Amino acid sequence: MKRILIAALAVGMLASVGASFAEDDHSKMHEMMMKQGGPKQDTRTELKIPEPMKVMHKGVMRSHLDAVSEITAALASNETGKAANIAKDNLGWNESQEKMCSVFGESAGKEFLDLGKAMHTKADELSEAAKAGNRDKALEHLASLIKNCNSCHAKFRH
Ligand code: HEC
Repeated sequence: MKRILIAALAVGMLASVGASFAEDDHSKMHEMMMKQGGPKQDTRTELKIPEPMKVMHKGVMRSHLDAVSEITAALASNETGKAANIAKDNLGWNESQEKMCSVFGESAGKEFLDLGKAMHTKADELSEAAKAGNRDKALEHLASLIKNCNSCHAKFRH
């Protein structure tokens, strides 16, 4: 009986700690939001693709981010040839990338494809600079490449 009582007390205490945490989080979140000018609508254009395709697209996106990480690491250790290959093989513009961008962005029209192409051709430029051993230029292209990623994120959403 005593044990049950202690257990019940512990559960009760945990629950009340949980509740006060949640309240704290909520008011912190509210404060943060108000500092940003209050709640906003997500006005980006939604890609009209079925849920399983969104899942697939997100997977492709995460592998793009992995490629960016690997390119950065290769440039950091001055392995320009390696960076060139990763950029070309994973992010470079080719027929299959074009097909993929067209399928995912079909509902969004030309703008999505243009933003996709701009990112992929920037990866090709990065690859060329790295292949030529020009690490500084490759790093400049890397910075632009990341901007290219976000230009699309600013316009489109799932
Ligand atoms: C042509 C458009 C476009 C380009 C270019 C693009 N993305 Fe995305 N990305 C999207 C869309 C749309 C989403 C979905 C956002 C959402 O969840 O609403 C997304 C989501 C993501 C996500 C979140 C994945 C997840 O698991 O939720 C990551 C990470 C990401 N992109 C990385 C990148 C990187 C890195 C690049 C550049 C190398 C890039 N993206 C280029 C359109 C693009």
